[in-house]
Amino acid sequence: MRLCVNIDHFATLREARGGLEPDPVTAAQICELHGAEGIVCHLREDRRHINDRDLRLLRDLVKTKLDLEMAITDEILQIAIETLPDLVTLVPEKRKELTTESGLDVRGDAEKVAHAIRLLHDNDIEVSLFVDPVDEQIEAAAEAGADIIELHTGEFANARSEEEMLEQLARIRSAAAYARTLDLGVNAGHGINYVNVRHITAIPEIEELSIGHALVARAMFVGLPRAVEEMLRLVRGF
Ligand code: PXP
Repeated sequence: MRLCVNIDHFATLREARGGLEPDPVTAAQICELHGAEGIVCHLREDRRHINDRDLRLLRDLVKTKLDLEMAITDEILQIAIETLPDLVTLVPEKRKELTTESGLDVRGDAEKVAHAIRLLHDNDIEVSLFVDPVDEQIEAAAEAGADIIELHTGEFANARSEEEMLEQLARIRSAAAYARTLDLGVNAGHGINYVNVRHITAIPEIEELSIGHALVARAMFVGLPRAVEEMLRLVRGF
């Protein structure tokens, strides 16, 4: 299983003062130096954290794999095509949300999603769809032509009891197995931390994790190199 680090929160902190620090691009380089296998950033329509300059520099400097999270809008699709990330992860986006709140409604927006995937594929960009662990959405993702799904682990991470956590975990496990039967690659992300990650790494179909908040929060206390290395050990199981 691979660890990709979402660096949006470094940009969130920078934007809190409207200055230059901390620079998310430097953060990406430190993550890579310490073993991260990919860098994730979300270019939002409102540019509340990552901005166009960050994305340009990240494209130049990231040597592992650059995963651009984005909503399906004409403007951001155009930027993706100009930037050529290694992977685009399509997500729903609401202006008022603190973070992405749910998976895409691939079934409901089938035509729009399929069109975006075709456009990205025409430019040789792999496409992942962020979806809830629901068979109907996974089927729709395969029909739309996605290469990969990223399973939304937020409900699992936010479970308020052991019973609810196990229920959500079972949904993720079964969704991951189902996606593989449809030849989709399987990633996972949202709310994964140093404690709950062990449940996700036990699911063999999941190839890659996208982790931001918990890792950046830990980095404040132990430093970014150690935060990355500690998570890598958990993800790799040694
Ligand atoms: N995957 C997606 C699609 C996301 O939107 C986010 C949050 O930016 C993450 C993964 C990472 O979630 P977290 O910051 O909770 O680790």
